[in-house]
Amino acid sequence: MSSSADPRREAVRILARVDAHQAHAARLLTNAAPLTRELVLTVLRWQYTLDHLLQQVCKAPVAHLDPLVRAALRVGLAEAKLMRTPPPVAVAEAVRVCKSFVPKASGLVNACLRRAAAAPWPSPEDASLPLAVRYSHPNWLLERWSKRLPRELLTQALAANQEPAPMYLLAGVSQIPPEVETSPHPQVPGVLVVHKGAPAAAQACARGHAYAMDPTAVAVARLLPRGRRLLEVAAAPGGKSLVTGLEQREALRVALDSRVSRVRLLANAVRLLARPPYVLAADGTQPPFRKQTFDAVFLDAPCSGTGTLRRHPEIRWRLSPYQLFELAALQKKLLVTAVNLTAPGGFVLYATCSLEPEENEEVVGSLGLPVVPVGDQLPAGLPRVKLPSGGILIPPGPWGDGFVVHLVGPVA
Ligand SMILES: C[S@@+](CC[C@H](N)C(=O)[O-])C[C@H]1O[C@@H](n2cnc3c(N)ncnc32)[C@H](O)[C@@H]1O
Repeated sequence: MSSSADPRREAVRILARVDAHQAHAARLLTNAAPLTRELVLTVLRWQYTLDHLLQQVCKAPVAHLDPLVRAALRVGLAEAKLMRTPPPVAVAEAVRVCKSFVPKASGLVNACLRRAAAAPWPSPEDASLPLAVRYSHPNWLLERWSKRLPRELLTQALAANQEPAPMYLLAGVSQIPPEVETSPHPQVPGVLVVHKGAPAAAQACARGHAYAMDPTAVAVARLLPRGRRLLEVAAAPGGKSLVTGLEQREALRVALDSRVSRVRLLANAVRLLARPPYVLAADGTQPPFRKQTFDAVFLDAPCSGTGTLRRHPEIRWRLSPYQLFELAALQKKLLVTAVNLTAPGGFVLYATCSLEPEENEEVVGSLGLPVVPVGDQLPAGLPRVKLPSGGILIPPGPWGDGFVVHLVGPVA
């Protein structure tokens, strides 16, 4: 049977690879059947809660099982509890798939799943249960976010991370196909929420007639100060270059990224602009420009992405707190270079879609430069937390991804 003809088997195979080899789910799902995609993303979102229920009924520690068996258990339970499949069908399918990979474990899968499927699903409202069980996030991340976010924003962030993200289109550059229904985003002007016809909208994006972009990312890109010469470092795949191109049409703009495959995406994206920026493949730590060339530099730094769990649910399981330092050296080097490229009196907008201090205020703080508050320039309805560093944290939520921004300058 081909993988598309057996979407559950394919889901188990992909999940075992993500689990055992830290593979990126999004890459493995590129050509996946809709059911495979839904199963994989549902399991990755709810993995902690699924394992919690499974562990109550399995004699063997779930963490010690063969990754394929663990994946079959998670898929069966997710399907029985969170999807439209009748539980007996979900259990029978998981047993069948397990038999095809690890025949000797099919009895265990059958016995555990029948009992787990009959147990009640932990309610997110049940305050007697730990947050990790209610919202399926790792404890280390919850401990950090509990210190960083007020309670209401924390639970909104956790709940939003458990839902599939809607599709959003950037209005100024998107031609909306007639079968696609949209409405303006409630907090961020210029962003359209797709309510109907997402496949047609996705096709319009693939053909280069529209651009899908997270609303918070749009709001962040608009914080770049005005200038005659602007540089965007780490610009691929190009969403923020489009926003800058719409906001600052007359400026001379340059957008660079170090990864050639991604520069191709950037070059394609900016074709949507009447006046695209100059695009180049270059390392942002060694860019081919003289010092003090630009009035403002936008550095949307590579990061762990903990503000994007709604769209990349497995990041929470792949990442450990120790890895947060790994990118910090590169982030600091990119920021120092960006500051050197900025003319006296100019600014660097440093942003990441990570909520973690190691990748944000600790990077900015290491330079000892002033930080200008930008909170007032964000759309009024967009929630935000002021950081002691002068930066702004926009938490993830039903409005969009999470970001942290620091406007560094004026450069001396
Ligand atoms: C968060 S993404 C940028 C998203 C982009 N600004 C947008 O709005 O579409 C980070 C980017 O940093 C790039 N990157 C990583 N290391 C880099 C370096 N040394 N120089 C330039 N770009 C780099 C990655 O290739 C990736 O495209």
